[in-house]
Amino acid sequence: MTATAKTVDKGSEGSGGDGHNENSVAPGDPLLSVRGLTIDLPGDPGQRGLVEDVSFDLHRKRSLALIGESGCGKSLTAMAILRLLPPAMSLRAGSVVFDGVDLARASERRLRRLRGGPVGIVFQEPMSSLNPTATVGDQIAEARQIHFGERRATALAKAAELLDRVGIPNAKQRVKAYPHELSGGMQQRVMIAAGIACNPKLIIADEPTTALDVTIQAEILELLRDLQRDLDLAVMLVTHDLGVVADFCDDVVVMYAGHVVERTSIDGLFYQPRHPYSSALLAAVPQVGNPRTRLNVIPGRVPPAGRFPAGCRFQPRCAHDAGGPCAQPQKETEFADGHTTRCCRVADGSLTLEGVARA
Ligand SMILES: Nc1ncnc2c1ncn2[C@@H]1O[C@H](COP(=O)(O)OP(=O)(O)OP(=O)(O)O)[C@@H](O)[C@H]1O
Ligand SMILES: [Mg+2]
Repeated sequence: MTATAKTVDKGSEGSGGDGHNENSVAPGDPLLSVRGLTIDLPGDPGQRGLVEDVSFDLHRKRSLALIGESGCGKSLTAMAILRLLPPAMSLRAGSVVFDGVDLARASERRLRRLRGGPVGIVFQEPMSSLNPTATVGDQIAEARQIHFGERRATALAKAAELLDRVGIPNAKQRVKAYPHELSGGMQQRVMIAAGIACNPKLIIADEPTTALDVTIQAEILELLRDLQRDLDLAVMLVTHDLGVVADFCDDVVVMYAGHVVERTSIDGLFYQPRHPYSSALLAAVPQVGNPRTRLNVIPGRVPPAGRFPAGCRFQPRCAHDAGGPCAQPQKETEFADGHTTRCCRVADGSLTLEGVARA
């Protein structure tokens, strides 16, 4: 380990209990602080640590990307924050402190007050989240009725305002539309309107643009960026797309096979990646202006849950595998600049990786 690198502290357990702390976090403290998050599929001894020892911070008004290939545990991590894990899954360890409250230990009642209130959620497939039998206006209004106790007429008027704010034309008429009467892009705008309906501090967006075509994707991201600025939101964006990350985010958490392998700023990732997986992901992005270059691919696949290597989970696919040390479990190591890696070779200074220019 270099003089500037230290093993990451698993951190505090947050406020504990049901955490009835209504005060906001102190200036400079993160709005969301995840430490040592570990998720199991109980009953199957092979499926322990589907997500293991995941830690990161998200500050007010910042945007953080959670990236990695399919099956790396991004959605499980995002869902675990509000304890929305699939019923079979269990949160074995860790803390999730949001605005001073440890959500890993909060009561279901308290979590219901947070979901769709101070924490808005936008999922990938609007049609699977929207209720096909209710008008979009009623679905947005419902959040205001529940969280603010507004009467239906007041909440519906607010829903029309919100639809207008997210760029839906004829918003006053559209409150009466059913989801199937809207295009995919419009449905995602409705989801975003519902996400911001109760003045959230944080929006968790899991692949919000993946189901949309490229032009609509750009519009939705621009909308999210405008809302983030205008409403002082923190945004946690789950995505595969490094182009989206480069355009939208301040900070990034790279996940591989249930582990965080690197945490840094966007510039840190692109110019000075500190994990072989991150640098392989960057090398696999087509470079604008260099059309003849063959696209690099990362050989092999993400191991399925339960088949993780005992040492570095990326070792079997790693171009920089050095044998023995890499066959040991890897600790997360933090450098003086706050950048972290879960690679012993980068941590001890024996491996330096190349970044790429941002398009
Ligand atoms: N309900 C479930 N039951 C069993 N295993 C699951 C379940 N949901 C997820 N998993 C497994 O947990 C691991 C992480 O899944 P997760 O959905 O978090 O990945 P992801 O990074 O979001 O992938 P994608 O980019 O495809 O959305 C995968 O191996 C997945 O197969
Ligand atoms: Mg996912």
